Amino acid sequence: MPDPVAIPPELVERLRSAKSVAVLTGAGISAESGVPTFRDALTGHWARFNPEELATPEAFRKNPRQVWSWYADRRASLEGVEPNPGHFALAEIESRIPRFTLATQNVDGLHQRAGNRNVLELHGNITRTKCSTEGRIVPAWPVSDEIPPRCPHCRAFLRPDIVWFGEELPWDKLAAARDAALGCDLFLAVGTSAVVLPAAGLVDEALSAKACVVEINPNPTPYTGRVSFAFAQPSGVFLPALVRAAFP
Ligand code: APR
Repeated sequence: MPDPVAIPPELVERLRSAKSVAVLTGAGISAESGVPTFRDALTGHWARFNPEELATPEAFRKNPRQVWSWYADRRASLEGVEPNPGHFALAEIESRIPRFTLATQNVDGLHQRAGNRNVLELHGNITRTKCSTEGRIVPAWPVSDEIPPRCPHCRAFLRPDIVWFGEELPWDKLAAARDAALGCDLFLAVGTSAVVLPAAGLVDEALSAKACVVEINPNPTPYTGRVSFAFAQPSGVFLPALVRAAFP
């Protein structure tokens, strides 16, 4: 029986023969796992807030308790969430390709849980906590009633290891992602609106390097008309079909 999702033979061949694949993912790849996107997470008690009131260094300085509590709620909403077939398909592609780099704007850790190894978290990880002054990752801290809890080393407030609006991305990860985009033969842009810089600039990098650029997104983005292939499909449907076609 033919696969219900038709993959162009040229793309199948591109993937099979690729020496280097780079991927950029955004909130859309986790949508089928039930992870609320940034704005969808502003529901219930949080519906009256703007992202700028919660995800900025200024917001944390002004009201650290409120910002910590919002992230605690987002962390709790991730409990029981599992990677979906789109995540697993990317792990399968990594296992087949000599050089593979996955840059993600997501903070949910689902790519690693699906089995991807070379993951560059450009916007941090919501399950990690760091010291708000020294930046060091703090895996555990003494139980206390204080919100936010305090760094066991310097007593500053702890904060989520997330890149907030107005903060710099980790330069080493961004540099590695750029190298991957510039050096790949095949680039996949998956589930990202591709409007938030500098991550979205990775698509430009891949286009300038004349890679085959593939967009997977049910909705159009600024890149839809410029890429080699655009598939208006959910990534949890399209990516497994791509893997089935290339590695039967
Ligand atoms: N499969 C693929 N794409 C999907 C799916 C799906 N099942 N469902 C939705 N999408 C697409 C949407 O069409 C949209 O273009 O996922 C995209 C999600 O866009 P955003 O919510 O803007 O997410 P993202 O691109 O990751 O945002 C970048 O902006 O909000 C900040 O810091 C936050 O990391 C985030 C950054």
